[in-house]
Amino acid sequence: MRLDKYLASATQMTRREIKRALKKTPAVVDGVKVSAPETQVDVRSVVRFMGEKIEYHEYTYILMNKPAGLVCTNREGRNPTVFSILDDRLKGKELFTVGRLDKDTTGLLIITDDGDLSHRMMHPKKHVEKTYSLTCDRPIPQSAVESFKAGIDIGDDKPTKPADLVISGIDEKSALLTISEGRFHQVKRMMKAVGCEVIALNRCSVGDFDLKDGPSVGEYRFFNERELEIVDKIKNQ
Ligand code: URA
Repeated sequence: MRLDKYLASATQMTRREIKRALKKTPAVVDGVKVSAPETQVDVRSVVRFMGEKIEYHEYTYILMNKPAGLVCTNREGRNPTVFSILDDRLKGKELFTVGRLDKDTTGLLIITDDGDLSHRMMHPKKHVEKTYSLTCDRPIPQSAVESFKAGIDIGDDKPTKPADLVISGIDEKSALLTISEGRFHQVKRMMKAVGCEVIALNRCSVGDFDLKDGPSVGEYRFFNERELEIVDKIKNQ
């Protein structure tokens, strides 16, 4: 792989910025100083650049805490997309969201260019659990707990898979719901099936990913070491 591509992938700098930086400060590839951007580098090479040891990542993994008002699509349309809040240097990458959240839903959203990871997380047979915190317009009936455990008819061919509903003891209008499918508007339709309208919806976790280490609403960050290990685990399953 070309040195500029390797460094762009590892540092999130653009290739143009890398080329400019290499002219001033050569990289050190396996102990040899190199400033030609087209130099071929092996992914196993030890590379130092601008005083740092470079960790090469083949793909980009972003954890966003989605704010309300943005849509999860790559198509330009009436509404701003989740990609519109990404730094310009990420805009050249072929990023997509792993699953979708509705425009008014907030919370955990993974953005990547790793199609294999997305496939492994989204495939219905993988049953990846997603937990949502929600607030409804009225108290949620206790009977919903059993109905969701058994699977409920939301107007599709099949009832939903067993889901775990924990209604808040303080405010019976709020709950945590864990589902292992990803049907269109699934949470809102499940709550509607028990007579409630969702007025606020936030995704807290997807599989082993959560928002405990941030970012806060409206922000994003790259995966940390723990999250990259989760990626490896998923991809080696
Ligand atoms: N279920 C919904 O109804 N909306 C979302 O955004 C996510 C899950």
